[in-house]
Amino acid sequence: MTAAAIAASGLGKDFGAVRALDRLDLEVREAEFFGFLGPNGAGKTTTVHLLATLLAPSRGGARVAGYDVARDGLAVRRRIGLVFQETTLDRDLTVEENLRFAARLWDLPRRVAEPRIDRLLSQFGLDGRRREPVRALSGGLRRALDIARGILHEPRVLFLDEPTAGLDPRARRSLWQLIRALRESTGLTVFLTTHYVEEAEPCDRVAILDGGRLAALGAPADLKGEAGVGSLEEVFLARTGHPFADGGAA
Ligand SMILES: Nc1ncnc2c1ncn2[C@@H]1O[C@H](COP(=O)(O)OP(=O)(O)OP(=O)(O)O)[C@@H](O)[C@H]1O
Ligand SMILES: [Mg+2]
Repeated sequence: MTAAAIAASGLGKDFGAVRALDRLDLEVREAEFFGFLGPNGAGKTTTVHLLATLLAPSRGGARVAGYDVARDGLAVRRRIGLVFQETTLDRDLTVEENLRFAARLWDLPRRVAEPRIDRLLSQFGLDGRRREPVRALSGGLRRALDIARGILHEPRVLFLDEPTAGLDPRARRSLWQLIRALRESTGLTVFLTTHYVEEAEPCDRVAILDGGRLAALGAPADLKGEAGVGSLEEVFLARTGHPFADGGAA
């Protein structure tokens, strides 16, 4: 039996009168590379924060890595990695200091942490930069370091919230290659949000969220086939509402 890495059932969140996430039913398989797409304000970050136990649901629930997010928050947090939409690295610390600091927070003994840090730095193309302050790195390398730190404790499920936002095309492509290689070598489940829709083509499956509701779910090839279009971007445009007019497009 392969347990679901993520299973949300009727999961929802309100912020006052704002229904950020309506009722999400979603299963993500173990080792799946899952893309969570949607326009600005669709509820992507809210969903990630609910699954990562940073927010309490207003309704419904979810299991992540086999544990209930409401009842077993600590067990969930030990098994997930989370890379926030905004970087949370310390810009004045060096690359390796950032990782060592995270290792201490995770209570990893030095003999475990040091070889892991060495391996991650070389895997992520940061080996030659380890003694430089984060502030000296390009946006792409900072994101790579954010991700390296996010997997230092060897999580089962990795949440990446807009990992490529603000990066140039080459840096975005390199980062995607890195994420795919990571997932192939470790069998990690990757749950990634993005609004660069075309980037999500290599995902096993994608969900499109719009206004807190699922607008589409499936393998990119199937979604394109169903909609009779040639790109994921066209699927996205067909399934999501127009941002500047009431009930405009579609
Ligand atoms: N803490 C909060 N308080 C009030 N409203 C919030 C809060 N967090 C999110 N919202 C609202 O909930 C909705 C969903 O926001 P969310 O950040 O989850 O969207 P998103 O899909 O991640 O958007 P983006 O692509 O811009 O990152 C938006 O209308 C947003 O304004
Ligand atoms: Mg967001």
